[in-house]
Amino acid sequence: MKEIRARAKELMKGFCRLCPVCDGRACAGEVPGMGGAGTGGSFKNNFDALAALKLNLRTIHGAKSPRTQVSLLGLDLDLPVLAAPVAGTSFNLSSQVSEEDYIRAYLSGCADRGTYAGCGDGAQDQIIEVALKAARDLGGAAIPFLKPWAEEELLAKIERVRAAGCKAVGVDIDAAGLITLSLMGKPVSPKTVEEWQRIISRAELPFILKGVMTPEEALLAAEAGAAGIVVSNHGGRVLDHTPGTAQVLPAVAKAVKGRIAVLADGGVRSGGDVVKMMALGADAVLIGRPFAWAAIGGGREGVARYLDQLKNELIQAMVLTGCQDPASIGPQVLFNPPPGTD
Ligand SMILES: Cc1cc2nc3c(=O)[nH]c(=O)nc-3n(C[C@H](O)[C@H](O)[C@H](O)COP(=O)(O)O)c2cc1C
Repeated sequence: MKEIRARAKELMKGFCRLCPVCDGRACAGEVPGMGGAGTGGSFKNNFDALAALKLNLRTIHGAKSPRTQVSLLGLDLDLPVLAAPVAGTSFNLSSQVSEEDYIRAYLSGCADRGTYAGCGDGAQDQIIEVALKAARDLGGAAIPFLKPWAEEELLAKIERVRAAGCKAVGVDIDAAGLITLSLMGKPVSPKTVEEWQRIISRAELPFILKGVMTPEEALLAAEAGAAGIVVSNHGGRVLDHTPGTAQVLPAVAKAVKGRIAVLADGGVRSGGDVVKMMALGADAVLIGRPFAWAAIGGGREGVARYLDQLKNELIQAMVLTGCQDPASIGPQVLFNPPPGTD
């Protein structure tokens, strides 16, 4: 991983500094780029919220060789980690790697290790086009996250996702205010629960709404027919001054857990972070920036290696907190769990 990071640092010059600690401080305001919006506060809050949580070391138990597999959204995953959609290579990641090479590495590295990667969408149709082409070549092994376009455009893109053989689809509803898209003549907007009901009922795929930060919106997502949500503030890239996702996760999970899949992202970097998010109520987590480094610095193999590292760290953390399987990760592993965690 050291070599992969060094190579990524070289190839991502001008876009990402590959800081030893990826906490959103050095890159505040760098959007496009890899940073967070405005003051970078939302990105920093994601990092700080996870860093503030501590794990209980527990070793008198029988969790000797934990299982990491989970099933959600009709998908079987070897570990409760997916790569988040991270798109827009030319303006966010690197001037030296093509969108196509990047997304192929991103999707195939995850498929090699028994999990899924999300792929993103944007004003340039080429972004989703190359991703869907790569997904099709992998038998549909990707979860495309489309933008909240006008209804007809969104439905047309969902049709293309189905044609690529993908087993689930999402929309990053937190992109609803992206002025850059409107300026490029591609308007996005918030939608009512009735609009989502109509769109989701026509999608014929498990549907994920990404960018939920309150229990009220989680309930609306369930009412709209979503099969899952991602508790996310888009890595702090859309709205400044939002709390860290780990801060809102317990209340959001409590509202809908067991009814729909609860995924979460924002600042997750290690197996220990995965355990923390799951202890707060997530069924699985998404990781963004580190997968982008892995894909750029090490291609398909880099992504697979990062997943190997995460799995090893996760197993280690589960052994040392006394969790035999993902379902048994709960508030008991947290030192002073935040109120409302159960
Ligand atoms: C450069 C970059 C591009 C992104 N592009 C998308 C995208 O196209 N669609 C989307 O839903 N989220 C996108 N995201 C957000 C990620 O999916 C994810 O929510 C976020 O990166 C998680 O935080 P982390 O990077 O701290 O793990 C992007 C994030 C970054 C850093």
